[in-house]
Amino acid sequence: MEILSTQNLSKNFGAEDVLKNINFSAEKGELISIIGRSGCGKTTFLRCLNCLNILNNGTINIDGIMLDAKEFNGQKLGDDHSSKSKNDDFLKDSLQYITKDEIHKKVHNIRKKVGFLFQNLNLFPHLTVIENVMLPIEKVLLKSYDEAYAISEKLLEKVAMNKYQDRSSALVSGGQAQRVAIARALAVNPQIMLYDEPTSALDPELVLEFIEIARSLKNEGMTQIIVTHSLGLAKTISDKVCYMDKGEIVEYGNPKDLFANPKKSRTKDYISKLILS
Ligand SMILES: Nc1ncnc2c1ncn2[C@@H]1O[C@H](COP(=O)(O)OP(=O)(O)OP(=O)(O)O)[C@@H](O)[C@H]1O
Ligand SMILES: [Mg+2]
Repeated sequence: MEILSTQNLSKNFGAEDVLKNINFSAEKGELISIIGRSGCGKTTFLRCLNCLNILNNGTINIDGIMLDAKEFNGQKLGDDHSSKSKNDDFLKDSLQYITKDEIHKKVHNIRKKVGFLFQNLNLFPHLTVIENVMLPIEKVLLKSYDEAYAISEKLLEKVAMNKYQDRSSALVSGGQAQRVAIARALAVNPQIMLYDEPTSALDPELVLEFIEIARSLKNEGMTQIIVTHSLGLAKTISDKVCYMDKGEIVEYGNPKDLFANPKKSRTKDYISKLILS
């Protein structure tokens, strides 16, 4: 069953066309890696899927919610500087919601379905581990403190971080911080998880831990999209691999075919250069 798709999704920053007519789809429970050169638009694509960037054209379908670029009508989102609107009281980040308009509601509902693991994790250093996880449960799901606490304890157990739940998140190691950030992204009980280079700062053992978490989420039916520069990770973990170049999807298929027999010369070229990674 298809859970996520985009139709002719386009995004520009000023004169730069960063995403060009992206047609993408993911089935429920699939684990998909997106690979491609630095600057090809991978992060921007993930951010569009989570409405952290506004698409300029096209549509996104996420688990029954359809968002058309036209609906934004020039409104601005967070640090997205590409639109011309001066509507300042819009969303500043993924944890701030204003539900005045239909579009705000839609964005809010999409974000409840989509968890996002930022490359730099974005934990709040002045909060403890458990407080970081509780935050979206209180702010987005509007649950009480006690409920949020109980849900967060379970999520931290899932990523084996409950031992450290009262520690300041500024004091946990990189691998631990990542697990906390995963628990926080899972806090809104999403159907889909997006990860931006989740293993780039991890040692090999921690990469294996990440793979374990991703696999156990897959077993629970989670749909996951992973942006990575690690072809090893993409090969090991993915049901499908998507190769992007210059804002376009060049090739999209199962990892065996894509890595062993790339159909497009652009894919071949990229993979041959990265054979050592
Ligand atoms: N908020 C923004 N304002 C202006 N330009 C941006 C913004 N965000 C991204 N870009 C530009 O869009 C292009 C694609 O960036 P993006 O971060 O999506 O690439 P990427 O594929 O994730 O690269 P990397 O592998 O290095 O992370 C780049 O040229 C970048 O400079
Ligand atoms: Mg990026």
